[in-house]
Amino acid sequence: MCGIVGYVGLNDSIDVLLGGLSRLEYRGYDSAGVAVIDETGTIRTRKRAGKLAVLAGDLKSGAMETSHTGIGHTRWATHGAPTDGNAHPHLGDDGKLALIHNGIIENFSPLKQELLDEGFAFESETDSEVAAVLLGREYRKTNNLREAFQNVVARLDGAFTLLAVHENEPGLVVGARRNSPLVIGLGDGENFLASDVAAFVEYTQNALAIGQDQIVSITPDKVEVTDFFGAPVEVEPFEIQWDASAADKGGWPSFMAKEISEEPDAVANTLRGRIDADGQVVIPELNGLDELFVDINRVVVIACGTAAYAGQTAKYALEKWAGIPVDVELSHEFRYREPVITPQTLVVSISQSGETMDTLMAVKYASEKGAKTLSICNTQGATIPRESDAVVYTHAGPEVAVASTKAFVAQITALYLFALHLARVRGTQSAEVLAEQSAELLAVPAKIATILEESGVVEELARWMSDSRAVLFLGRHVGFPIALEGALKLKELAYIHAEGFAAGELKHGPIALIEPGQPVFVVVPSPRGSAMLHSKVVSNIQEIRARGAKIIAIAEEGDAAVLPFADTVIRIPLAAPLFEPLLAVIPLQIFAMELAIAKGLDVDQPRNLAKSVTVE
Ligand code: F6R
Repeated sequence: MCGIVGYVGLNDSIDVLLGGLSRLEYRGYDSAGVAVIDETGTIRTRKRAGKLAVLAGDLKSGAMETSHTGIGHTRWATHGAPTDGNAHPHLGDDGKLALIHNGIIENFSPLKQELLDEGFAFESETDSEVAAVLLGREYRKTNNLREAFQNVVARLDGAFTLLAVHENEPGLVVGARRNSPLVIGLGDGENFLASDVAAFVEYTQNALAIGQDQIVSITPDKVEVTDFFGAPVEVEPFEIQWDASAADKGGWPSFMAKEISEEPDAVANTLRGRIDADGQVVIPELNGLDELFVDINRVVVIACGTAAYAGQTAKYALEKWAGIPVDVELSHEFRYREPVITPQTLVVSISQSGETMDTLMAVKYASEKGAKTLSICNTQGATIPRESDAVVYTHAGPEVAVASTKAFVAQITALYLFALHLARVRGTQSAEVLAEQSAELLAVPAKIATILEESGVVEELARWMSDSRAVLFLGRHVGFPIALEGALKLKELAYIHAEGFAAGELKHGPIALIEPGQPVFVVVPSPRGSAMLHSKVVSNIQEIRARGAKIIAIAEEGDAAVLPFADTVIRIPLAAPLFEPLLAVIPLQIFAMELAIAKGLDVDQPRNLAKSVTVE
């Protein structure tokens, strides 16, 4: 939530900041602003409610002077409506200092009162302006931006990344972070600070990950990182594995369309280098941890939203292959009760961004309680993997569209790899069985590619159904989390009421929702996998059809049993039952995207959402 970028160097900072913000807009898009120190040494600020394009248009029409130091922000409102006045940057020290913020300052109220009592004035309703005014007050005492930061962070509760510039110190951007993301980009004669490497990957692929509770300052040729008390700390360098083109639309009408088209690669890249010539899964990042994996007696998976559905899907494989009990929980529910955790509990977090605050807090809580923690993450340098004992990266590439698609299939892939790794290490399956499963995994990218090639039926269906008021999704076994994910995609992209149910649960209540014409998607399991499960789902279809439901079945090639009862059948290639979710979800993603397009909606930036949810 909120994207921030800071720049010092030879380029024009407005260009760099706007370019960076455009790549961070997925983090928040209700207002945007920049502050630069111009060549006369004066702070110039421009901020506008609305998407970044509004600010960019404004900057073009009223050109700002060239500058080489600046900060920029794209906002997802928490405190105060998305207005010009509440947009960042906020000013302090009589306008000589500008500050941007991502996170929530929980004690802003008493701090604001303290500053009001001292005669300071405020222009916005935000918690962030309190940090700007406080920093201005501390600057007056110290005449040093870095020292002023040390004084300020000592007073703040909550989560924050702050960046600031001061007129008296042109060529310097100072930042601080606690529980919100911040990475450093190392250029040649220029340096960057940003919420995410996407903001500066166009200029450099060399980055530094900053730890919690650290302060960083950048000048064109120097980077300094200290703890909150000013003591120097080591930072971890890493190379960004993708280039700027990976974060562009590349000719596609939307990031979402591009990212769905990349799903075969997202799976293939996540598998690469992790299955040996004998078909055994060996995850190099987990070398040396065999003893830990043998020692555990329970797995708890924590995640939110789509990532949690990836966890629910993988539970079946983890239990079947590795023979270990698995609980899947929403991070925010896990964190605020008293879950039973022992040193033999492995807590596996799943997060595309690696920054989701609910999941981060749950990981920290699990560590404090003595659990071992493993992160499944798509973003290098992110906080959650850094707070975990081990990480298995998904290699889906940058996901820019707010609703997750390719990251979901990459997450299931990584979790399946982990399940096979665990099964090998714990000796719960023979080498033959494990090799069969990895062969199934290796076949997934080509099968997804086939579904993408034949997506015409789904696109047409979405156009017909664009007036639907409610859509239901049913599934059993691994089809159940896919039904939940199909419903989530439709809600967030097309703003249509949608619900997913376990098909077996229908008769226990939800069947009352069925009335003539009600569209219901049914994820039909393969009859080859389990004839019993298949026939039960076919019976469920008949039950709702008898009450007037319009059935859209997602069924494997050749499954004729569904034909008499379905209004539309969407075919997926044959796969072993546990691998069907990786295929069945694709038409559901395409359906939600196409229906949103048919309604004229922005599929990349749905209303009220932000991609990286860095507040609790
Ligand atoms: C839905 C979606 C969200 C995220 C959730 C977790 O399309 O994208 O539900 O899956 O906010 O985000 P990460 O994976 O970044 O922790």
